[in-house]
This record gives sequence, C-alpha cells and structure tokens, in this order.
Amino acid sequence: MRLGFIGTGRVGLVLALCMERHGGHQVCGYDVSDRPRQILAGETPPPAEEGIAELLDGSRIGMLPSVADVVARSDLVMVCVQTPHPGGWTGSTPMEAPSDFDYSYLIQAVSAVGKAAAEQDKPITLVVVSTVLPGTCERELLPLCPPQVRLVYAPSLISLGTVARDFLEPEVVIVGCRDAADAQPYLQALPLPMWPLDRTCAMDFASAELAKMSYNLFTVAKQAVGATIARLADQCGADADKVAAVLSCGTRRLLSPMYLRAGMPAAGPCHPRDVSALAWLGEQAGGTAALPLCLAMDREDHARWLAGIVRREHERTGLPVLPLGAAYKPGTRITAGSAAMLVWQYAQDLADLVFDPMGALPEGLGPQIFFIGCAEPEFATYEWPPGSVVIDPFGYIPSREGVTLITPGRRRP
Ligand SMILES: NC(=O)c1ccc[n+]([C@@H]2O[C@H](COP(=O)([O-])OP(=O)(O)OC[C@H]3O[C@@H](n4cnc5c(N)ncnc54)[C@H](O)[C@@H]3O)[C@@H](O)[C@H]2O)c1
Repeated sequence: MRLGFIGTGRVGLVLALCMERHGGHQVCGYDVSDRPRQILAGETPPPAEEGIAELLDGSRIGMLPSVADVVARSDLVMVCVQTPHPGGWTGSTPMEAPSDFDYSYLIQAVSAVGKAAAEQDKPITLVVVSTVLPGTCERELLPLCPPQVRLVYAPSLISLGTVARDFLEPEVVIVGCRDAADAQPYLQALPLPMWPLDRTCAMDFASAELAKMSYNLFTVAKQAVGATIARLADQCGADADKVAAVLSCGTRRLLSPMYLRAGMPAAGPCHPRDVSALAWLGEQAGGTAALPLCLAMDREDHARWLAGIVRREHERTGLPVLPLGAAYKPGTRITAGSAAMLVWQYAQDLADLVFDPMGALPEGLGPQIFFIGCAEPEFATYEWPPGSVVIDPFGYIPSREGVTLITPGRRRP
C-alpha cells in the first residue's frame, strides 16, 4: 500500500519506519520542519529510540515538499502532528489550570489533507494518530473532510523510547470510525499478521477518543496507588515493596477486567470504610496522601450523579419512583456499604421504599421510574409496566417495547 505521513516527529517518524519495514509499504512524508529529512538523510542524529538505527538503515522514505504531494502519492495518510497543552506545559513543571489540548496544528494538517484530496478528487483514508479529547473528531475534524476522505482515529498506545516495540506489539488496537468499513484499509495496512481480532477494537469516534485517554488515566491511577502506598508506608513504618508484592498477586480481581465495567459506585461492608479510614490516615500525615480522600469523594459524586438522573426523569415524566435492589452485591441481601442505599440518601424525597426482591414485581403496578441499584439477575426478566422508565447503571436490562430504558454512560443501538 502507498502510505503518507503528515508530521514525522518523535512518534510519526518511527511509525513511518515501522510501516515501511514491517508492513512492506511504500512510505512518503511531509513535515513543516526539515529535521525528519535530515534524520533520514543521516545529516542529523535520530531521536533516542530503541531500534531506530536498524529501521533507518536502508529506509527509502521520501520527504515531499507539500501535503498535496503526499496526498497525490498515497492511498492512506496518517497524521501525527503535535497536540500540545497551550503554553507547552508537559508535566515537568507544576500543573497550571487543567485545559484542553491545542488542536491548531492538527486542524491545519487535516484541513490541508482534505483540501488536497478534494482538489485532486482523490479517495483516501485519513488516519489521525494525534491524541485528542473525546468529541474532537466529530466537532473539529469531520467538518474538514470532503466526501473523498474517510476519517479514522487510531491513537497509538506507545511511549517515547520504545515507540517501535510498542507499536509493533500492541496490547490493543483502538480504532474510531463512523463506519467499520472505513477502518478496513488501516487495519489491513498494520504490520500485525498475528494480531488477535478480539483485541482490535473498532468503535465510534468518541469511544475511541475516550478509550485512549482512559488507558492513560488508568496508568496514572495505578501509579498513584503505588505512590500513595509509599507515602502511607513512610508514615507508619511499613515497607511499600512488600505491600506492592501483595497487590501484584491479585490477578483474579485486582489485575483483571473485574471492577472495570461501569455501574454503581464502589460498595461493600469493607471498601468504602477502608478508603475512608485511609483518608483519615493520610490526613494524619499532614494531607500528603490525598488519593483515598479523592476516591471517597468521587464515590459520593457518582452517587449524586445517579440520583440526579432519577430526579431529572421524575421531573420530566411526573412518574413515581421505585428503587430496585438494596444489597451491596447481587444475591447477598447484605446492605452494609450498599451503593444503592447511598444513592437514595441523595434522592430520599423521591421514594420512601427500596424494593428488595425475592421474586417478581408486585401485581397491578402502574408505570414507574425504576432505578436498578443492584444488578440482581431477576430484574432482567421483569415485565415492566408499559410507560415506565428503567434506569440501569449496569447495562444488563434488555430493551422492551413501550418502556424507556436509560443506561447512563452507554450507547444503545
Ligand atoms: N510522545 C508520546 O509519548 C506520545 C504517545 C502517544 C501519542 N502521542 C501523540 O502523538 C502526537 C505527536 O506527538 P509527537 O511526540 O510525535 O510530537 P512531535 O512534536 O515530536 O512531532 C510532531 C511533528 O509534526 C510536525 N508538524 C506540525 N504541524 C504540521 C503540519 N501542519 N504539517 C506537517 N507537519 C507538521 C512538527 O514539525 C513535528 O515534526 C501528539 O498528539 C501526541 O500527543 C505522543
């Protein structure tokens, strides 16, 4: 395949070299800086990247004078320009106010590709690799794409220093697109012949954008747990490595898909109390271990958010509210630490009864707003009174005609 790269900096150049060497593609590029051409010509040392000398050896990547030239010589164009923080903040100085990325380089590059494809009437697949926040592809980039351009968002989960290895041996391939067919040329171009299909995830733009950001959020959260352990260990004379070794054994629950599926806030007789006690311990050290307090506050925020959805539906429909499920987890009937009960603390005025099921719904019930606070399996088979609203934070209740199903944070077909 003929591939073009717009933006051949720290990420783009290595991806271009990998696509050439391991994908067997004919690759060209354009960069506003002359540095990539100098690196390819051996006039300037390459960035400190594992394996880059071998990739550069014998490379025939041609740097072209314009985006239009790249579009003319490519079937698939990958855009890897920078999306920095405004002011150039990278994290090596104290954080300023949180902000969105600066998309001006990306907008310029995508609009130049779109313009060239329209002028040349050239059908191409345009793959954006640059990191963006959810909503950016739809809001900023799709309007720049003429009918000749099929937009794909393909963030790479690479880290500087090992870009080639991370790209060639990915844990997961994230692809955002409007239509799965749009992503096919990119997936076919990837040098991943042995890649298991269940780890190649094609989805809508917003989900792909959020997946990339969430991967990094998860990484930072995990590091924050390690760092918090160190601060608390320092405070109480424990050994952080011994504690980390214990957590590393948790491959069934901690280091697994468990607890990752969106639903209710954390629950149980132990989890909320332990986090609260750790928040207290952190405060004893002069507030140096803030993570437990943040987690405890986030749990309350989540409960308030869900209560707000119930309130919104009650105000919209005027229907009575019936919360379903009081236990902290299905099949237990234990309500200590129940997230369902916590949600009702924030919506007490809407319902004075939580229906904790032993069987079917009571007979003769009129339309209601049902809020599923605990994912009891029997709820999935309930015959909801027609006209009801069912709010399901877990995403397991099947749709039924005549019933409005609300699944916060999930798209329903
Ligand atoms: N650095 C990382 O670890 C990493 C990891 C994953 C994703 N990303 C994302 O990848 C993207 C690229 O990052 P990077 O570190 O390679 O940035 P970089 O600054 O090293 O490279 C960007 C390149 O794009 C060029 N460029 C800018 N505007 C252009 C235009 N209009 N036309 C042609 N070339 C243009 C620049 O001259 C530069 O060479 C960013 O969105 C970044 O967030 C970076």
